[in-house]
Amino acid sequence: MDTPKSVLAEKAKEVLKKAYAPYSGFKVGAALLCSDGSIYTGCNIENASYGATICAERVAISKAISEGQRDFIAICIVSDPQNGPCYPCGICRQVLSEHCTDDFEIILPDEMGALNTFTLSSLLPFGFSNKNL
Ligand code: THU
Repeated sequence: MDTPKSVLAEKAKEVLKKAYAPYSGFKVGAALLCSDGSIYTGCNIENASYGATICAERVAISKAISEGQRDFIAICIVSDPQNGPCYPCGICRQVLSEHCTDDFEIILPDEMGALNTFTLSSLLPFGFSNKNL
């Protein structure tokens, strides 16, 4: 990966400050790296009608796709370090699997700041797909 993981982590930490999470108090930031080197960020945006909440990862990927991006390399997801690594929720894993390949990288800083990396296929084995229909 040309763009260092630390750059993605910094961008994710920056957007984390913009999270709107008055209900859970759990703030999340995400930075998504595209194959052209551009980076799209997102934060979680909660709603009084809880089901209308959108996660940071889906904000980032929605922004990227709506700007014409189609090819994704990696995403870094951060929360308050005391929460530990912020593994993406099931819905976000499914959304990522729609647009990313199995080797897409999910970078999750741990409590010590180490940038642990997982492939999408390791976090979503046997994900649902109807691409062959
Ligand atoms: N959240 C994310 O933004 N990403 C995830 O992958 C997990 C959960 C948000 C949604 C909600 O605003 C808060 O974290 C608590 O669930």
